[in-house]
Amino acid sequence: MLIDLIAGARPNFMKIASIIHEMERNKNGKSKLEYRLIHTGQHYDYLMSEYFFDQLNIPPPDFNLEVGSGTQGEQTGKIMIGYEKIILQEKCDLCLVVGDVTSTLACSIVAKKSGVKVGHVEAGLRSGDFSMPEEINRIVTDSISDYFFTTSEFAGKNLEKSGINPSSVFFVGNTMIDTLLKHQSNFLQPKIWDLALLKEKNYLILTLHRPGNVDDKDKLINIINEIVRNSSGVPIIFPAHPRTLKNLKFGFSVPKNLFLIDPLGYLEFNYLVKHSMGVITDSGGITEETTVLGIPCMTLRNSTERPETCEIGTNVLLGNDIKNIGSSIQKLLNKEWKKGSIPALWDGRASERIILCLIEIFHL
Ligand code: UD1
Repeated sequence: MLIDLIAGARPNFMKIASIIHEMERNKNGKSKLEYRLIHTGQHYDYLMSEYFFDQLNIPPPDFNLEVGSGTQGEQTGKIMIGYEKIILQEKCDLCLVVGDVTSTLACSIVAKKSGVKVGHVEAGLRSGDFSMPEEINRIVTDSISDYFFTTSEFAGKNLEKSGINPSSVFFVGNTMIDTLLKHQSNFLQPKIWDLALLKEKNYLILTLHRPGNVDDKDKLINIINEIVRNSSGVPIIFPAHPRTLKNLKFGFSVPKNLFLIDPLGYLEFNYLVKHSMGVITDSGGITEETTVLGIPCMTLRNSTERPETCEIGTNVLLGNDIKNIGSSIQKLLNKEWKKGSIPALWDGRASERIILCLIEIFHL
């Protein structure tokens, strides 16, 4: 049984790490489960890619397509051409894709058209917001997948509504949380801790990378200024995605309590999250991690594909109107944030369940 495991962009790496470790564990057993790790190269900077491989003990990829940056179409096309060559050389039995990035979409299409079964980890998420490429990636990937591994009951219901046979849907939990729980005791204090004189629960973290928030420079600067204006001077640590950084290089004078830094490694970023007062973000994955770590989180988006982080967890959607930022930060500073709890099966064993499902499905 040969499985292609696809990873291309930063949020994929924490999702595949635990699956790979579980596959490695099973390799020594009787299950005859082999895998090839395909890195599409969608993210390629050391701090966005290789550093994550090192920190999360992910083995070097068997193939790196090195597609690099480009428009949605360019990236999708290059990944499809590159991955098709690999499949034509040797066909796998299953292509396992994770999440909702361009690499997920591109490889699932190639696999399906080559007669290879597709398994989607983190299937069934829906935000209803078609202005985000990820929503299109989720829907297309789910529409051609054969096996669906879900993180929540909500995701299972979405799949059922779209006509997917429930017998191919497996509620397994969250592989990103497997990785978080496994590495929690190894989180690393980053250099910025001393440089910014940070103190436990006395600083905020900011991350922004969605095109809707960062590609228009004026909008981006307005968001940042509104956060800073309402922050009562507490340090705000802002590890910026390259896409965001590009727009802040010129014409932005960095406020005194804002620390604009390069992207952090996984262990350093989550160290900061765990010890922070709260996080302001437009990421989806971070809302899951803050929920599990019990850290208040504000999301600068109108919708979320992860409603359990709001309903059960510590996340609140602020929408796209910057007027909502002030009152929300005030709540946090007044220590009036809601207490969350942890969604079902986010217990560190999702990858174990995925491998057990595969063993059963493929009679290994
Ligand atoms: C991608 C994902 C998004 C995910 C995010 C996490 C899609 C559609 N989007 O968005 O879901 O939340 O990753 O980071 O797949 N760049 C670099 N170095 C890198 C990578 C990117 O400089 O290593 C720059 C390039 O200028 C590139 C831009 O960032 O054009 C955007 O990268 P891209 O992969 O297109 O999308 P992300 O915004 O990273």
